[in-house]
Amino acid sequence: DGLSATVTVHADKPAPIFDKRIFGQFAEHLGTGIYGGIWVGRGSPIPNVNGYRTDVLDALKAIRTPVIRWPGGCFADEYHWREGLGAPTKRKVKINTNWGGVTEDNAVGTHEFMNFSELVGAEPYVSGNVGNGAASEMAEWVEYMTSPTGSSLAKERAANGRKTPWKLPMFGIGNELWGCGGNMRPEYAADLTRRYSTFIKMPAGQQVMKIASGANADDYNWTEVMMRDASTAFDGIGVHYYTIPYDWSKKGAATGFDEDQWARTLAKTLKMDDYITEHAKRMDKYDPSKRVALLVDEWGTWYDQEPGSHPGFLYQQNSLRDALVTSLNFDIFARHTDRLRGANIAQMVNVLQAMMLTDGNRMVKTPTYWVFDMYKDYQDGVVLPVDVKSSWYNKNEWTLKAVSASATRGVDGAVHMGLTNVNPNKPATILVKLDGVVATRVTGRILTATAIDAHNTFDAPNMVIPAAFDGATLAAGTLTVTLPPKSVVMLDIR
Ligand code: AHR
Repeated sequence: DGLSATVTVHADKPAPIFDKRIFGQFAEHLGTGIYGGIWVGRGSPIPNVNGYRTDVLDALKAIRTPVIRWPGGCFADEYHWREGLGAPTKRKVKINTNWGGVTEDNAVGTHEFMNFSELVGAEPYVSGNVGNGAASEMAEWVEYMTSPTGSSLAKERAANGRKTPWKLPMFGIGNELWGCGGNMRPEYAADLTRRYSTFIKMPAGQQVMKIASGANADDYNWTEVMMRDASTAFDGIGVHYYTIPYDWSKKGAATGFDEDQWARTLAKTLKMDDYITEHAKRMDKYDPSKRVALLVDEWGTWYDQEPGSHPGFLYQQNSLRDALVTSLNFDIFARHTDRLRGANIAQMVNVLQAMMLTDGNRMVKTPTYWVFDMYKDYQDGVVLPVDVKSSWYNKNEWTLKAVSASATRGVDGAVHMGLTNVNPNKPATILVKLDGVVATRVTGRILTATAIDAHNTFDAPNMVIPAAFDGATLAAGTLTVTLPPKSVVMLDIR
């Protein structure tokens, strides 16, 4: 009594590319996201390259991490870049007022972050301080990072160890200006965005994408006002949406949950589709040519912190459920590439829906990491729209299509198709029609497990890892796929 679905892939009607920036990461000065998670310092017994953990560095390269957003988050609107320069022992030690009240010694500053991005091969997306910083401070930071030679700031950068300027492709004009970034009304935020944007200047021949602080979830008025009053001052605007099983006061546990929590989490993550659609409508009104990009520059699951962990550190486990949250969101993102040109999952290491968890010298890759790995050939591929006709999965008041899908024609020429079966109890048999694809061979990988909350630990790091998939058969141009319950599959069709 399995489920059935039909998926039609329209290779004959290609959509805009799946920008590699949609696979972006986010690293905030929060908990052990940076200290311990990325940076251990040059003298550390933990294997490192110039102070950066080798295991984390290698894992980020392996999934071709395209972008890293830094230094926040809420941290960004209290960050003063000059405090993170020069001899480490002389840097200002502050209180991280947003995240646990712990001390922040500024060991990772502009040089450490920008050099880290280069090592990873990722573009830096730096968020400036609009909340409690001056426009001149922001302007000088941009000049410090990008100015070739000659100016005092370029000389200072060279004296601090970096002669050639860094590339700065993306710059955020504050973060969550409606909340931790200054509790502003959109009208005021729009005016400030215009003003700060005026002074972000790049050297000749260099370009930066200026990104306005976006709305929270379904706050469409924010996008409306920012677009109406300030859209000529930016090239992109964000939106943040976190998937929370219950609500902010009692979010729900990362593991040890029941099927109701499985279903409600996956159903709630699908709201992303409506949110993007509605924000994009506001953008279309003021920018019909779609010059301004939408970036979901914070997304992912947010659970109650792990028992015993610091309440301000947002440390949570990551299970098979998070893997499905990831694949469902990638499918949604694929439907909106006319406007959506970036996303940053929150956050890269040890914070919220992380790619990796670390403990001393140990590191484990989460189920979410593996979905980023399985989908990485989507990066910059041409989206091939899909029609999905599927039976439903119901649990209590939660109803969702059992099967979700997306497809791209990769830069390697192959068709890559992601398929997800959200039903934890039943397999799904899918008939895939490939319109406009000449296919002779199909291979694939699958991510699944026996328990809905299966996860990887430092002692058992391979509980949820991809395996070769043999459930797809190709006959006379038609593909038949059997997806086991609660699974994510990536097919490569050639
Ligand atoms: O990712 C954690 C926090 O969530 C960020 O600092 C903030 O922007 C958002 O509210």
